[in-house]
Amino acid sequence: MWATGEAYEPYVGRWSRLVADRFVRETAAPGGGRWLDVGCGTGAVTRAVLDLARPAAVVGVDPSRGYVDYARRHIVDRRARFVLADATRLPFPDATASVAVSGLVLNFVPDPARAAAELARVVVPGGRVGVYVWDYGQGGMEAIRAFWDAAVALDGEARTRDEGTRFPLCAPGPLGELLAGAGLEDVEVEEIRVPTAFADFDDYWTPFLGGQGPAPAYLSQLPGEHRAELRERLRAALPRAADGSIPLHARAWAARARRRAD
Ligand SMILES: C[S@@+](CC[C@H](N)C(=O)[O-])C[C@H]1O[C@@H](n2cnc3c(N)ncnc32)[C@H](O)[C@@H]1O
Repeated sequence: MWATGEAYEPYVGRWSRLVADRFVRETAAPGGGRWLDVGCGTGAVTRAVLDLARPAAVVGVDPSRGYVDYARRHIVDRRARFVLADATRLPFPDATASVAVSGLVLNFVPDPARAAAELARVVVPGGRVGVYVWDYGQGGMEAIRAFWDAAVALDGEARTRDEGTRFPLCAPGPLGELLAGAGLEDVEVEEIRVPTAFADFDDYWTPFLGGQGPAPAYLSQLPGEHRAELRERLRAALPRAADGSIPLHARAWAARARRRAD
């Protein structure tokens, strides 16, 4: 599902960068810190930290070799490095990061509580932990929501693949409870909403053919006829502006907290 950075960028990367910028700006950590970006993918959050947070260092961590290679090729900065690793087994000693963040990742980790405990473990006392996930429900990440609504209308079985059904973590209550459950304090949850405007239907549809993430993975295994039916259903269902563009929005839920100061 997560292998080819070039295919991820037009699918989610172009929108995740907008959310990452907002998230990092609003995290308001002091400059000079050591940041950890867990599930860094192609580097959206790392890029935002480098550009906006004046860090001393940023380490991006991801288990996808393809994404880490992409990030290494595209982010050439002496303050940044990238490591292949899993969120539930971070290869860092206790209390070594000032800020540990993770964007659009934790719902994909089979044991998110363990990942949250790892984020809490690696930050210094008083350090910040911040995470965010897409809201896959109605009014959330509308591009992906529209896909699953059309897919389920054609194939009831698709419901079991629908990210809105599969990921109960992607809501404000459960996300805040995840950080509190890791022993973190001062937990705050807020929404980050960004515009996701597609130039035309091809701009919307073509990135779904790239195989990155659950919806493109589902699409890739459909017979050609069924795939075409889904495409045409979406073409008819999506809203259009007067210029033919498709004006959608995406909402992420962000939770921030602090490790207790010793
Ligand atoms: C939707 S992408 C988000 C990437 C990036 N953070 C962004 O905002 O664009 C999900 C990422 O989670 C990573 N991932 C999946 N399972 C993981 C795990 N167990 N530990 C760490 N990262 C994981 C994937 O490799 C992928 O890079």
